[in-house]
Amino acid sequence: MILVTGGCGFIGSNFILDWLATRAEPVVNVDVLTYAANPATLASVNDDSRYAFERADICDRDAMDVVIAKHKPRAIVHFAAESHVDRSIHGPMDFVRTNVMGTATLLEASRAYWKALPEAQATAFRFVHVSTDEVFGTLGANDPKFNELSQYQPNSPYSASKAGSDHVARAYFHTYGMPVMVTNCSNNYGPRQFPEKLIPLMIVNALAGKSLPIYGDGQQIRDWLYVGDHCSAIARVLEAGRPGELYLIGGDAEKANLDVVHTLCALLAKHAPGKDYTKQITYVTDRPGHDRRYAIDFSKLQSELGWRPTESFATGLEKTVRWYLDNSAWVADVQSGEYKTWVEKNYGARA
Ligand code: NAD
Ligand code: TYD
Repeated sequence: MILVTGGCGFIGSNFILDWLATRAEPVVNVDVLTYAANPATLASVNDDSRYAFERADICDRDAMDVVIAKHKPRAIVHFAAESHVDRSIHGPMDFVRTNVMGTATLLEASRAYWKALPEAQATAFRFVHVSTDEVFGTLGANDPKFNELSQYQPNSPYSASKAGSDHVARAYFHTYGMPVMVTNCSNNYGPRQFPEKLIPLMIVNALAGKSLPIYGDGQQIRDWLYVGDHCSAIARVLEAGRPGELYLIGGDAEKANLDVVHTLCALLAKHAPGKDYTKQITYVTDRPGHDRRYAIDFSKLQSELGWRPTESFATGLEKTVRWYLDNSAWVADVQSGEYKTWVEKNYGARA
């Protein structure tokens, strides 16, 4: 079986659902259930005998030892993280704790387990560390895209903590020979994303008649990838990636934030003829240290492992809007609890 961390979050839950839909192999999901988790997301597989859930913190070494010894995974896919840049600006220490210390703790527990495996199993073992393109910093308008040789230049507490975790993961291959691979992906969107990130926030705010807050001039560029394509890339790296390697994953879909929001408004209007959601757009104070542009050259993944995205931005966004329209109960569920406090903290003080 494989062990997934952070499987109640956005990408981890999509990964588990896709995995169980297309493969026979069981999965154990290790998640501490932070604000970003919604266990209801995985309700459809709760009764599947191939699925198990363990509530545990990746920073807790004893708990990691117990879970790994109990399930004896042949591979670990590590998604668990604090993942939102704006939250990292308000509270960087949670990011250092989970992303750096948590990843290091999980790697230590995995190393102890891996070292004790019989030789053939140890050779076949894999640890995939899921990371972000934000570790490479920001690009100018005419700079070449990020690739596997780009320099690490993180600018936010989030990206700095992810960069730290990438370095620790890399060191476990180079120092101990543990079969670790790192993936660095661009911005994801799709079903089950917590509505603190740009695309789901804009969809749920538009539908609720609330403002659509654009940071700064809205000309920051992200390279958008549909979550299902990210999941298939990770599965491919797990299957055939070379230990010790870094693989960049991207969508070939560079868009300015303002264009993304206008596209969303047009898609939503198809479901509410005559409605002009663009009237809800407001410009608010920019994010401190806001990276201007991310873009990914994924030719290594394409040439070595034959992966490329299957969804275009248009088809992926259409599916995403449809999912949020059909799942208002899920949205209401994640908007209860601490969500309101967060909205007030992040947007209340912006001019
Ligand atoms: P998310 O915030 O939606 O989910 C994170 C999950 O990790 C949650 O279920 C949470 O409960 C769990 N978690 C957090 N701290 C934990 C801890 N200490 N112990 C155990 N579980 C813990 O995140 P996401 O958007 O699904 O991102 C998953 C991974 O992919 C992250 O490592 C992120 O850096 C990376 N990534 C995300 C994107 C993106 O666009 N969302 C892009 C590239 C890479
Ligand atoms: P986000 O989804 O937070 O991802 P990241 O910061 O990791 O790229 O933000 C995507 C872009 O959208 C980023 O340039 C910030 C911008 N943004 C807004 O303009 N308004 C918002 O309310 C949010 C959440 C993001």
